[in-house]
Amino acid sequence: MKKINLKDDQLQLYKRENSKVWQIKLKLPRQKAIRKSSGSKILEEAKKTALNKYNEILITKKQKFDISKNYNYKKIHLVESKKLNKKEIECFLNESEKYIRFNKKNIKKFNLLEGRSIFNLFFEDSTRTRTSFEVAAKRLGADLINVALKDSSINKGETLLDTMTTINSMSPDVLIIRHPEEGISKKISKTVKACVINAGDGSHEHPTQALLDALTIKKKFKKFKGLKIAICGDIKHSRVARSNIEILSTLGCYINVIGPKSLIPKDIQKLGINIFHNMKNGLKKCDIVMMLRIQKERIVGIHMPNEKEYFKKFGLDYKKLAYAKKNAFVMHPGPMNRGVEIDSELADDITRSLIQEQVTMGVAVRMACLEILINNRDKYGN
Ligand code: NCD
Repeated sequence: MKKINLKDDQLQLYKRENSKVWQIKLKLPRQKAIRKSSGSKILEEAKKTALNKYNEILITKKQKFDISKNYNYKKIHLVESKKLNKKEIECFLNESEKYIRFNKKNIKKFNLLEGRSIFNLFFEDSTRTRTSFEVAAKRLGADLINVALKDSSINKGETLLDTMTTINSMSPDVLIIRHPEEGISKKISKTVKACVINAGDGSHEHPTQALLDALTIKKKFKKFKGLKIAICGDIKHSRVARSNIEILSTLGCYINVIGPKSLIPKDIQKLGINIFHNMKNGLKKCDIVMMLRIQKERIVGIHMPNEKEYFKKFGLDYKKLAYAKKNAFVMHPGPMNRGVEIDSELADDITRSLIQEQVTMGVAVRMACLEILINNRDKYGN
């Protein structure tokens, strides 16, 4: 009999001498083994069916966390994309897959994180990211606390670290932090016991945005290697650009950045990307065009072109999109400024724009992040 282990001892494929078709054996701790035909003679196909079955069972049987998995990502914080290797990125993307399917169900509730306290600490405005984490946490059964920082003691002169120490004393499991200061999430991760997720630190990083962008691309293209991606606009002040450059180049994509000289930092070249100051050249042969908002709130001391002028040169419309590959797709992390960096009709054109898909993928990626980090904390602890 041929036997192949897929998930430690929990998932196996086997084939008896007298049979051509691969059989699946699924044995979760303290549960009866389930045996099922994969319906396929081809090993790769059988593997896919087996893994799908495994993921389905994991989320329908309400598995508890004590059946902890061995993820390729071993850390309890997610504060930057820079240090993620390919296996770690793939770990987040692979674990997100089951949640894409789960989020399409009528009943979107599963008690994987029941009893866990997750705090949203947003010191900057946010709609998508904050809500996305809230939806993700609640669908996994956790308690999500939105700390109203506008009404918080920060306004009474309390230091950020004091606020964090206070919240730390409430025994949180995860802190999701957005703050204008670069590197602040990393700093906080060293002082608290909870898992820390960086939901955007100034112009520095926004790792879950880049992961959800990667997941959106994976769903469309089924690969990363060799894809050519243009990131356009205010690269200098964009944490989304920085995190995407790190993650997408690690996955094997080529990156062009396009924008006015004043909005492209000189040191970005060392990240191994191509720089353009003109859309026609920069978009050539691109599979994806990722547009960015001008981060007005972070721009100091440089002359900004007026919006009409900017749109003419760097705003994406159908005409400029035609410089890219024939079926190129458009992405944007939101919030969009219609008529400034992107044409309104193009943004809404679902045959070309993946913008809404990005939001959908965002919930799945964040569910996977919460699962992985909390599971790692239970296992490796602190
Ligand atoms: C971005 C952010 O806040 O960094 N948005 C987001 O998270 N979806 C981009 C932006 O603000 O322009």
